[in-house]
Amino acid sequence: NLTPEDKAVIKTIDQFVYSKLSDDKTGHDYAHIQRVVKMAQRLAEQTAPTDLFVVLASAELHDVIDEKIVTNQVAAEAEVKQFLEQQDVSQSRIQAIFEIITHMSFSKNLEHHYQLSLAGQIVQDADRLDAIGAIGIGRAFYYGGAHGHVMYDPQVAPRQKMTHEEYRQEEIVINHFYEKLLKLADLMNTNAAKQLAKQRTNVLTDFLDEFKAEWNQNK
Ligand code: ADP
Ligand code: NI
Repeated sequence: NLTPEDKAVIKTIDQFVYSKLSDDKTGHDYAHIQRVVKMAQRLAEQTAPTDLFVVLASAELHDVIDEKIVTNQVAAEAEVKQFLEQQDVSQSRIQAIFEIITHMSFSKNLEHHYQLSLAGQIVQDADRLDAIGAIGIGRAFYYGGAHGHVMYDPQVAPRQKMTHEEYRQEEIVINHFYEKLLKLADLMNTNAAKQLAKQRTNVLTDFLDEFKAEWNQNK
């Protein structure tokens, strides 16, 4: 239910995002964005009506202002805003998109839970679904490798309650599963995402069982 004009603007936003993320090596790559956009569209179709343009634009833009990607977040936000204005996106839509992309990250919600709009809940679910299941496992190890982290250290227990700072300092990939990935299924907003998250979480727990069995096999 997008107008042809809306569709054209989404396509332009997609090209903008591609230019920003095509060389990312930390798991915030353009392929992640494509998966999140597709999943957000699918979840939107299975949930109550909402502005699909805001859903898709937010899914496209959710990582381009992330503090892990840009050095100057204020400048990045200003650039995105100016870009949307150039595409004649209405101020109310720009506001809705910014409210979503500045509040949806897991680490930010550790200390202050933010009540997102339905469109925001859908995009947050789509982003979180991409952090679990087989692709989530791949992304976690890819991220760990890019940052020089170890895979596992049985001497260091995962931290259950973490501050934003502690979360950013985690350097053991397997601990990240306990500190974030296994918690995501219970944090899903929409029913459609809850179902998918359950299946993908089973993939994580099977993987962890097998990983530890292999690690311990000679003990
Ligand atoms: P968010 O934006 O919700 O805070 P991130 O940007 O931290 O999420 O995560 C991006 C991807 O990198 C996800 O797949 C996530 O699981 C993974 N990741 C983030 N931090 C770590 C870490 N310390 N160890 C392993 N994987 C991580
Ligand atoms: Ni993301």
